[in-house]
Amino acid sequence: MIRRSSLIRIWAVLATLIAGCASDRDMPMNTLAPKSDLAEWIYHLFIQVTLWDAGILAVVVVAFILAVFFFSTRIGEAAPPSSAASDLGLEVAWTVGPALILLMISIPTVRTIFRSQPRVAPAGSLEITVTAHQWWWEFEYGDSGIKTANELHIPTGRQIRLNLVSSDVIHSFWVPQLGGKRDVIPGQINELTLEAFVPGTFLGQCAEFCGLSHANMRFRVMVETPEQFVYWEKRQEAIPVAGNQITSPDAAEGAKIFANSPCTTCHRIDGVSKGYMGPDLSHFGTRTTLGAGILPNTPENVARWVTDPDAIKPGAQMPKLGISGDHLHDLAAYLESLK
Ligand code: CUA
Repeated sequence: MIRRSSLIRIWAVLATLIAGCASDRDMPMNTLAPKSDLAEWIYHLFIQVTLWDAGILAVVVVAFILAVFFFSTRIGEAAPPSSAASDLGLEVAWTVGPALILLMISIPTVRTIFRSQPRVAPAGSLEITVTAHQWWWEFEYGDSGIKTANELHIPTGRQIRLNLVSSDVIHSFWVPQLGGKRDVIPGQINELTLEAFVPGTFLGQCAEFCGLSHANMRFRVMVETPEQFVYWEKRQEAIPVAGNQITSPDAAEGAKIFANSPCTTCHRIDGVSKGYMGPDLSHFGTRTTLGAGILPNTPENVARWVTDPDAIKPGAQMPKLGISGDHLHDLAAYLESLK
């Protein structure tokens, strides 16, 4: 018999697991709360197939129970039926039955596949190239040329066409409430088309094991009203604070440190540097997170990140630069000023 303490322990583990699923109430990574047409189609398909499955399970369980009670023999009562005997009716039934079940499941599945994966981008859609890197995401807007990292801004009420490419290994683009998962494969362009219904911030995550920091390859999708999106777009198109507009002395000092550091080899800042290996930092100060969604974007966290990227994101390609003290403080102030 299971002891009471064991039961309590099992319950505690289960409760922890369940709580883990709902840890972030404001931004749940939950496919059962769809917020786009794509996610809703997949959700409806899931519910439909689950209901079919539940019906089949009920029929099988009832048939099993009836068989146990009405057709079982007790030892010594009667000989078991001959295995050579066949029943044509039954054989037809268990061939046709599963074929019908398969048909009922495949029709909505195939319909959803075709509906959700248009070959060409819908007219008037906003095209964005998504490049997956070990371990961060780059977003480039086709019409405006805006480049950003780890925070994708899209408007409601407009078809979004994401062209997914990888710069290294296989990744997978997944935003549970908006859609996916779609593999991101080197040497190939995969597409994802969706229209978000409501403004909000939705969490995304790479869903294909891609190396040491796979779990740290997160991102956010900021769905905005069309007006908010245009405002964001205008801001991103503008040159970030120009040298002579930096008002804080710390940030002005940080600008000099950046311009003379190896940072410029990997990172682009509009009008300052042309690096392309790492995320574009032109408007870094407008982002809410850093390190591919791992840390809130604060000067303290920027300093932590620059000091030792590998400690925060194991395997990160960014090296330690040996910047410390006042220099580190000024550099963080400059990066945060890029709005
Ligand atoms: Cu990228 Cu896992």
